[in-house]
Amino acid sequence: MIRLAKLSMMIIGMLLNSSFVQAGEFKPLPGQTAVRVCADAYNLPYSNDKFEGFDNKIAAIIADELGIPVEYYWFPQRIGFARNTIKKTDPETGQYLCDVAMSIPAERGIYSPTKPYFSSIETMVYRTGEGYELNEISDIAKISKEGKKLKIGLFDRAIATEKLLADGLSDQIEYYQMMAGDAKVIPGRLVEEELASGRIDVAFAWGPIAGYFANKSSVAMKVVPLNELGEDFVFSFGLGVRHQDEEWRDLLNKVLEKRKDDIQAVLADYHFPSLANVKPSIKNKKQVYNIVDGKVDDKTYVGWRVFNTTCFVCHGQDATGDIAPNLVERVADMSEFKFRKQLLKRYFAKVNLDDPNRRMEFLSQLGEAQAAKFKMPTWSDDPYIRSHISELYAYLKARADGALGEGKPERLE
Ligand code: HEC
Repeated sequence: MIRLAKLSMMIIGMLLNSSFVQAGEFKPLPGQTAVRVCADAYNLPYSNDKFEGFDNKIAAIIADELGIPVEYYWFPQRIGFARNTIKKTDPETGQYLCDVAMSIPAERGIYSPTKPYFSSIETMVYRTGEGYELNEISDIAKISKEGKKLKIGLFDRAIATEKLLADGLSDQIEYYQMMAGDAKVIPGRLVEEELASGRIDVAFAWGPIAGYFANKSSVAMKVVPLNELGEDFVFSFGLGVRHQDEEWRDLLNKVLEKRKDDIQAVLADYHFPSLANVKPSIKNKKQVYNIVDGKVDDKTYVGWRVFNTTCFVCHGQDATGDIAPNLVERVADMSEFKFRKQLLKRYFAKVNLDDPNRRMEFLSQLGEAQAAKFKMPTWSDDPYIRSHISELYAYLKARADGALGEGKPERLE
């Protein structure tokens, strides 16, 4: 019954979709009269209320494509942003305050993300023309040994902190706070004020911020992207919508794809640092699964078996989805770390499914209506699942990467 309903929904969806594409241009969703952006009014280079940020320009491109204006709902970008903007309704109209947040991490979390429209990395910025050159973090220690103790400015918990401390530079570091009390104090001040004025000699800052403020400054500066940190420190960002707004997210994805050259041009205008020669990730080198001639290693095999004791009930026998999402799609861009977190996270389900026995009993009598109501149970109290998360990940990742097909896998000798 569930499957049939879903199938007919899919067919309707496909029909709608194809007529949409044939029209040759993108239209706003029914009832949509503006691209309603949730943004920070004082957060350059991202956005401000004078529309000077790159996200302001990108919002304008999206609106142009849809033939409607941009409207902003301003709120400081900090903890509670989503709760106070995209997830909040106006008590009078009952309408959400805004419908899209920008520059949000391209992983499913508070928002449902689009495909990323930019990636960046941490950088090191310094004033040029002072008789030294910095190309890597370790150059700071080298220059210090030669007698010039450079003063380093960074935000607390900066990525480079550990390396700087290991290089013995702790007494040269000045820590700054990321979330200053005043919403108008932007993180760019490390470059714009502290570095330009000479109070510090080297600033560590996030790529888009460093590129923008170094370029704007009247003092000559160089931005060195820390590509030496490797792929694991490249972070990607997309647009974020409410989880239920799948159509809106799909439409935004199409617009981002169509206008990607215009968006790239905006990012170039804002001097995003180059990601050429980023070192490959060390973690990625560690093989998650091993498959030779379609035969799988023990780990992947055990993952398949565990999956088919428990997870298949909701996610389908080959993980392609049933009453719960298609994990072949969902795990494609999900790190093992994130996967583990998702599995052990405590959801507030309508029915308490934390106890494995209650869960099996409940699942066996699950009806369609109930199925729609509950969420993924937490697996933190289930020792069997908890001790096989790596194996489950190996199986699902192999499926997601297309390295393993449906059905029972064959084992390697
Ligand atoms: C009782 C039904 C049920 C079972 C059993 C179940 N899941 Fe889920 N799972 C869901 C639902 C529903 C969601 C949708 C997310 C939500 O809102 O909680 C989900 C979401 C997920 C997600 C997150 C997807 C994302 O994009 O964030 C992962 C990963 C996942 N399940 C893995 C598993 C694994 C591995 C197992 C087996 C140990 C399992 N699930 C068993 C119902 C289930």
